[in-house]
Amino acid sequence: MNLPDLQFTPAVGLRTDFPIGVVGAGGIVAAAHLPAYQRAGFKVEGIFDLIPERAERLAARFPIRKVFQELDDMLRDPEIQIVDIAVPPSAQSQIAVEALSAGKHVLCQKPLAETLSDARLLVAIAAKENRQLAVNENMRWEPAMRASRYLINEGWIGSAMLATLHVNYREEWNAWPWLEQSERLTILYDAIHPIYSFRMLFGEPTGVFCCTGRSQEQRERGETRALITMEYSERLTGFIQNSSQNPSGDNFATFRFDGTEGSIKGTLGIWYDYPVGRADTLEFSSKTRTGGFWVSKKLEGRWIPDAFIGPMSALMDAIVTGEEPENSGKEHLKTLQVVEAAYRSESEKRMVSLQEIV
Ligand SMILES: NC(=O)c1ccc[n+]([C@@H]2O[C@H](COP(=O)([O-])OP(=O)(O)OC[C@H]3O[C@@H](n4cnc5c(N)ncnc54)[C@H](O)[C@@H]3O)[C@@H](O)[C@H]2O)c1
Repeated sequence: MNLPDLQFTPAVGLRTDFPIGVVGAGGIVAAAHLPAYQRAGFKVEGIFDLIPERAERLAARFPIRKVFQELDDMLRDPEIQIVDIAVPPSAQSQIAVEALSAGKHVLCQKPLAETLSDARLLVAIAAKENRQLAVNENMRWEPAMRASRYLINEGWIGSAMLATLHVNYREEWNAWPWLEQSERLTILYDAIHPIYSFRMLFGEPTGVFCCTGRSQEQRERGETRALITMEYSERLTGFIQNSSQNPSGDNFATFRFDGTEGSIKGTLGIWYDYPVGRADTLEFSSKTRTGGFWVSKKLEGRWIPDAFIGPMSALMDAIVTGEEPENSGKEHLKTLQVVEAAYRSESEKRMVSLQEIV
């Protein structure tokens, strides 16, 4: 039996030396961006945060040469070519507009903006300024998703029929006050990862049906669980269950992809103990390639920090080639359409066609 090599820790691409300016020195930059960039050999030239001590602390730890006192100082610095934004979503759009207008290429967090129309505006500004705009869709480079993508594209499970992903964990959203106050929570900020991953693996859904929920005692304004059914045109159905209200402490995150010729199943380690996590697991069986027997593969790398190499690496490649990266802002608009369809489905209690989201 010829088994594939499924080690997909994101390889660095064509260039690693574009100088990066990081905006925001909070939790995710400390846990994921900077460790990943250090591992990849990317050049972080400077950092800025509204709270200067945070930027100084990270600059000392990683180390980073320049701590900017103002955003403008970073944007005027001719050495900075990429601005990597990691701030609360309400502040992101303005920073992205200023950075693009200053001639920088930009990597934004997901969602690209709080509304689809704001996201479209950012994409239009990037096109006008002739700059690359990418989104930190790091789950695309997550080890089990990368391996699944390979197996599906290489035909190991035939035509996909059923894709399911269940995330059930406990998160205290009060660590992020803006999320606790947000009217939209689980779909826009959490399930958006599996939504773009399903799009990466299976293409565009035609319709979405969604129910959301919240517990009586929760402090969060927005939904804390979502059940999202995605219909595709080619005999494929997808289902994402995402809940951050697990009361029992047995966090889990599982996925299973069934096709006409076999199946892939596994676990996503990050959700077992965020943000440290544990290694993913992956098993697959293929009528034609494994004789129907299940095979398990140990996967190298973790979502945090390793998968954060991917979005930045793809952006650097795009700057070199002039082509759109797979995590481009323009591509991300289709993910936001699915998000919008899910919210509309929840509010109107019906299946919503993607064609309705214009
Ligand atoms: N897997 C993922 O893709 C992932 C995971 C976690 C967070 N995120 C996203 O990353 C972003 C940051 O999250 P976090 O967990 O680091 O939050 P955080 O609250 O820990 O840090 C945010 C930082 O941004 C700074 N800040 C706020 N407004 C600013 C501004 N206008 N200019 C400069 N700095 C500003 C704050 O002072 C703070 O240090 C959010 O958009 C979040 O949704 C993505």
